[in-house]
Amino acid sequence: MERCKIYEKIIKFIKDEYKAQSVALHEPKFIGNEMRYLKQCIDSGFVSSVGQFVTDIEMDMARITGAKYAVAMSSGTAALHIALICAGVRAGDEVITQPLSFVATANAISYTGASAVFVDVDMDTMGMSPSSLSKFLDENCIKKDGKCYNKNSDKFISACVPMHTFGMVCKIDEIAQICNMWGINLIEDAAESLGSKYKGTHSGRFGLAGVFSFNGNKIATSGGGGVLISDDENMAKMAKHLGTTAKVPHPYEYNHDYIAYNYRMPNLNAGLLKAQLENLDLYLKDKRELAQKYAKFFDSLGIKFINEPKDCLSNYWLMGIILDDKNSRDELLKYANEKSVMMRPAWRLTSELDMYKNCIKDENKNAKYLADRIVNIPSGVRLNLA
Ligand SMILES: Cc1ncc(COP(=O)(O)O)c(C=O)c1O
Repeated sequence: MERCKIYEKIIKFIKDEYKAQSVALHEPKFIGNEMRYLKQCIDSGFVSSVGQFVTDIEMDMARITGAKYAVAMSSGTAALHIALICAGVRAGDEVITQPLSFVATANAISYTGASAVFVDVDMDTMGMSPSSLSKFLDENCIKKDGKCYNKNSDKFISACVPMHTFGMVCKIDEIAQICNMWGINLIEDAAESLGSKYKGTHSGRFGLAGVFSFNGNKIATSGGGGVLISDDENMAKMAKHLGTTAKVPHPYEYNHDYIAYNYRMPNLNAGLLKAQLENLDLYLKDKRELAQKYAKFFDSLGIKFINEPKDCLSNYWLMGIILDDKNSRDELLKYANEKSVMMRPAWRLTSELDMYKNCIKDENKNAKYLADRIVNIPSGVRLNLA
């Protein structure tokens, strides 16, 4: 079939699915108690960083993920920053992550004064590849007194931050095993993977901590916000303390025992999130149904739709297709956006951005291949129950 005809079919399919002439990439849906909880905040006066909804969503997130503790933060980036500090990452260290990610992953590493090291992703999960991680460690690192050092730079490798790309969980049990063997703390950037599981366990639960984002484009939103989960009591307590300006609890005195951060989630945002989390199962069901329809449709056109990989139950946060080459990718992007169906490429690889281009990295071969060919397609919840 002629390329233009194929694009036309794609646009028609998406507009029909969403019953709209203009389709966004991922819009939030407010079809539950959002207004009610926001009004409760305003009526009670508790709009800021103290309030029942903050406590509620921490309990909700612990329940949903199965983690012992959940700590609300002002953003996913803030939660990642705090997680790294609590994991002992310090200025001058190296932290291993992946090149195919939103820039916030590497930025949070940089905030600590550590440098990012980029190892490649797997083709099927689009997340950190355990074999690339192992290869990098075997070829470049030694273990001394239970800790991992880069032999070439003589720097301490204090953490590893894989990311679950578009909601697909990477081979996180293998990565956890490798990190354990090398004495490296594992922090999962689970920003995109609320509701995603690996071999039955929720993402974010495989290392010392996991971090979720509730930015407006995520599967559930607080407007802006994040949550850190952990099974480690000390980690959770420290995260809460450092995210709340390290204020020593007292009814009226102001005493602080660290140079810390104001990373608190306001009650207003938590109220919005509580309502969103109440509908999470509905969102997950709708997105899974859409993914199945997309898979069948793209298969009929001979285009590769990105399905959940083996052992992963995906939340299908951002769905995508893989085209033959960069030219076809750009052609479809132009065509779709001109027809008011929003599509976007994957991120430019973080390891190629000016700020990070001199960081240590392997070949990043799969990441480069994917970044050139992925097109993200409209993936928002289609329900309209308002
Ligand atoms: C992979 C990844 N990491 C971190 C973040 C940062 O989250 P936030 O925007 O809440 O700071 C996001 C999303 O925004 C993300 O997609």
